[in-house]
Amino acid sequence: MLPSVLPTESDHVPVLADEIVATLDPRPGETVVDATFGAGGHSTLLASRLKGQGKLIAIDRDPSVTPYFERLRRGTSLKARLLSGEFSTVLEQLSANGVRADIVLLDLGVASMQLGRPERGFSYAVDAPLDMRMDPSSEYSARELVNDASERELADIFKRYGEERYARQIARAIVRRRQTEPFERTGDLVETIKAAIPAPARFGEGHPAKRVFQALRIEVNDELGAIERALPAALEMLRPGGRLAVISFHSLEDRLVKQFLRKQEGGCTCPPDFPICICGSKPVMRATPRRAIRPSTAEVARNPRAQSARLRVGTKVG
Ligand SMILES: C[S@@+](CC[C@H](N)C(=O)[O-])C[C@H]1O[C@@H](n2cnc3c(N)ncnc32)[C@H](O)[C@@H]1O
Repeated sequence: MLPSVLPTESDHVPVLADEIVATLDPRPGETVVDATFGAGGHSTLLASRLKGQGKLIAIDRDPSVTPYFERLRRGTSLKARLLSGEFSTVLEQLSANGVRADIVLLDLGVASMQLGRPERGFSYAVDAPLDMRMDPSSEYSARELVNDASERELADIFKRYGEERYARQIARAIVRRRQTEPFERTGDLVETIKAAIPAPARFGEGHPAKRVFQALRIEVNDELGAIERALPAALEMLRPGGRLAVISFHSLEDRLVKQFLRKQEGGCTCPPDFPICICGSKPVMRATPRRAIRPSTAEVARNPRAQSARLRVGTKVG
């Protein structure tokens, strides 16, 4: 059967590509887990370094990435497989089944081709059904969230995940409008957001609906919960010397990764006034490098999506 959506080269440009290859340094014979396969840009780069020896395990909760995976598989002699599902669940299952990896990569958020397909409802730029599910088979979409959550819940989501200044005003306007007619389309939501904020703010930084759409997407897909569960599962499945890389696009995501790495590096958890260590805990990871890697100005000029990207890498001690 022909794939319903054929991949094109312009679908998704992998961010921090050179930095990913340099810091993860894949070697022939290793096992690479790309937990956010997308259009397979990073996977293709990492797989080429394995020189036909080793394994690639790709994960994505969006089944529409299958044609991209098939394209990669046709071009490689590596053992490669695609597992559909939420990455924290799949990583936990792989680990429980004794699968071990040398590299685990998480490139968070949505791919350009998901944003570019209006029917997925991720974009505020085109009128489409209000959806935003990365996994189209999951039950909870932006439609349920916008129509069912309380005014307070909506305001909290817009504030926390979107850092939206007019969170309360927008939540109030949404609740008022849905009393007469439920929200079905992104266009209705964009109009309501625009009408709820002061006129000068409509022409401020970026599209006025950008932050609310980001917040709804994070909530609908439980993006932060997935990261919190995935990091320990990834660590568990790494072999000693294995590398974990996470690219985040939001300060809340990056904070979770940073705190996780700090905790794994910490080792001893005894109170500071104990004369000797009695807990016996040893550091299990090293952040390599210590600080987050940011894209170069040249990359941001080529690919504006890279602007907010932060890469953190940890190596399992062993
Ligand atoms: C930014 S894109 C990855 C792009 C990819 N690195 C490339 O070079 O083409 C993120 C991908 O991860 C998937 N994704 C995001 N969160 C996920 C999760 N919790 N579980 C599984 N897949 C997820 C999305 O469906 C999307 O395809």
